[in-house]
Amino acid sequence: MRILVTGGTGYIGSHTVLALQEAGHEVVVIDNLVNSSEESLRRVAELSGKPAVFHRVDLVDEAAVDAVFAEHAINAVVHFAGLKAVGESVREPLMYYHNNLVGTLNLLRVMDRHDVRSLVFSSSATVYGEHNPIPYIEKMEIGANNPYGRTKEQIEDILSDLGAADDRWHIALLRYFNPVGAHPSGRIGEDPQGIPNNLVPFIAQVAVGRREKLMVFGGDYDTPDGTCLRDYIHVVDLAEGHVAALNHVAGRAGVFRWNLGSGKGTSVLEVLRSFGKAVGAPLPYEVAERRTGDLPAFWADASSALADLSWSTTKTVDEMCEDHWRWQKNNPLGYLS
Ligand code: NAD
Ligand code: UD1
Repeated sequence: MRILVTGGTGYIGSHTVLALQEAGHEVVVIDNLVNSSEESLRRVAELSGKPAVFHRVDLVDEAAVDAVFAEHAINAVVHFAGLKAVGESVREPLMYYHNNLVGTLNLLRVMDRHDVRSLVFSSSATVYGEHNPIPYIEKMEIGANNPYGRTKEQIEDILSDLGAADDRWHIALLRYFNPVGAHPSGRIGEDPQGIPNNLVPFIAQVAVGRREKLMVFGGDYDTPDGTCLRDYIHVVDLAEGHVAALNHVAGRAGVFRWNLGSGKGTSVLEVLRSFGKAVGAPLPYEVAERRTGDLPAFWADASSALADLSWSTTKTVDEMCEDHWRWQKNNPLGYLS
């Protein structure tokens, strides 16, 4: 198939472009490069031996998106493009609603006009909100508690309405848990701009000497070691989850929801120790105040993806840290290195 990947120069997008090419698909990428660089695709091409077609296009520009569909006979879309920083979304809600919602609506209208109705969408575990018991199961009521999360929930609603109104749509909503790690080659990985918000990118910058120590946000939670538990998933496993979801929806109309996670919780201190093992020395940290909005613990019930897609995670937290470290060590300043 010829797959359009929006946001394909980004972290998860670039790994998924590679996985799609390895599965034999042709890939066309659109991205406005607001949080990524085209260098990631050059490196993906090095790894796959097959360059992806790239168009620098903003999804908010419907005519430009339409022109890409007019130029290429697209069979299906994997839609990553969006802004994703929770704190920024609280400060700049209009920017988040405009970019994520208008961008998605434009994409859907263009797809419909060009008779392309297979879509895999990047949702997030954040849609489960604060009140659901763990582990999270796809059939639970959702209710995000920040503007970023609400854009994901609202897009899920739009896509559910679309699937209910027109049975020609084939839609997968993938709720990712905590993606970390990098391709084992060390050539592509996560390249956050500024101070990383997320745990593993921050630890990686401590390990490479760009930050002094990890601040552990809260050591007094009701968890085995007092720090929060999350469900970390290797980005290569996550990328394979997209290939599996695409194969599944290609043959079936409807709207499907799957958690993509390992089904296990790992604490902040366990991740830190694992990363230290990869580096070969323990990493400095200090226990600080809790971060507002953090939940003590959550992880996926990963059984639906296994049953429906025959997909499950294969890589351990140690492997996530080893691969993340290889990427960071070889590219201390990310793609600028
Ligand atoms: P990323 O920022 O690396 O990738 C997103 C890409 O979208 C970037 O390359 C950015 O330039 C592009 N983009 C943003 N707005 C655009 C627009 N209007 N038009 C065209 N391109 C645009 O982020 P990522 O970590 O690879 O995340 C990919 C998707 O997965 C996002 O939708 C994110 O919300 C979702 N997600 C990520 C995580 C995570 O922890 N990384 C967790 C759950 C869900
Ligand atoms: C964050 C997002 C969430 C998103 C998820 C996956 C917030 C509030 N939530 O959640 O919406 O779905 O990423 O992308 O941003 N930690 C530290 N020190 C640090 C950084 C993190 O101790 O410098 C801790 C956090 O308190 C948390 C754990 O590490 O307990 C994981 O944090 P993070 O990587 O930000 O992921 P989430 O909290 O799951």
